[in-house]
Order: sequence, then C-alpha cells, then structure tokens
Amino acid sequence: MKKAIYPGSFDPITNGHLDIIERTSKIFDHVTVAVAINNKKNKFLFSDIKRKKFIEQSIKHLKNVDVKLFDGLLINFVIAEKSNIIIRGLRVLSDFEYEFRMALMNRNMNEAITTLFMMPHENYTHVSSSIIKEIATLNGKIDNYVPKEILNEIIECINDIKSS
Ligand code: PNS
Repeated sequence: MKKAIYPGSFDPITNGHLDIIERTSKIFDHVTVAVAINNKKNKFLFSDIKRKKFIEQSIKHLKNVDVKLFDGLLINFVIAEKSNIIIRGLRVLSDFEYEFRMALMNRNMNEAITTLFMMPHENYTHVSSSIIKEIATLNGKIDNYVPKEILNEIIECINDIKSS
C-alpha cells in the first residue's frame, strides 16, 4: 500500500490545502494529513486540536485520508507511519526557496524519503492561511477560501479570540 504524508501547520486549512489533499488521495492508496503540534516556537492562532478537527470536518468525503498530530522531526513521523513520501503544495515561485531547502534537508537526513510537489488549482494560488486569518479578523468575507463545513466555526473562533 502506497502511503503519502501531507504535513503542515494548517492554521487553518484552506481550500488550497483541501485541493492538494483531494489530488493526493487520487494518486496514493492512503494519505495522512500531518498537523504540526503547538509548541513554544510555533505561534499558531488555533490550537492543534482545533486545526486537526477543522481538517477532519473538511475531508469527510475522502475515504482514504486521515489526520494525525505530529511533534518533532517530520522525517521521524514519516518513518513511523511506514511511508517514504512527503507531499507539499507549491503555489507561486516565492514558495520555492523555502520548500526547496526543506525538501533537501529532509532528503539529507533520510535519503529514502522523497518530497513530491503538487500544484493546487489556479483558483487558490493567492490563498494562504495567514491572509485568511487577517481578512477574517478584519471582518472580511472568507467564504471562497475555506471549506464550507468549517466556515462558521472559524469565524466564531476568531470572534472569540478578538473579544478575549
Ligand atoms: O504549513 P507549513 O507551516 O509550511 O508547514 C511546515 C512544516 C510543519 C511542514 C515544517 O515546519 C516541519 O516539517 N516541521 C517539523 C520539524 C522538522 O522536521 N523540521 C525540519 C524541516 S527541514
């Protein structure tokens, strides 16, 4: 069985992420979406439990996809999951340098692990979690950018954070 790991912060998941998950699920037997755990260095808006839950609510239509939290080195998680494939999305050229370094570093640490890059649909090349958070915090419309199943919950969470 060919398994792929799709890691990220997913703070929160966007329609661009979902597009990559759907494409990957058609190519691999199984896909695990790996959500980086909150730690002292990572300042995420949403808790890891919330970020994982948002993804689970968005992928109910995909039978060969699950979601797990991971901590520490990604390559260790990939090995523990008995995979050797990391999936990363590339939207625009400016993503490339960071992704290139990360893929090479992961390959240097473990030659058996390969990073594959996928392009999301062009409708999502301008979509990122950080822009969505900024728009939502300023009461802008994010309907077209996040999965419909989690839209209201994201807005409620952001409103709670704003009023706390
Ligand atoms: O969605 P992001 O923030 O671009 O995802 C980055 C992520 C979580 C995939 C990356 O930071 C990562 O792999 N973190 C785990 C720690 C690790 O393995 N670091 C070395 C990467 S070369």
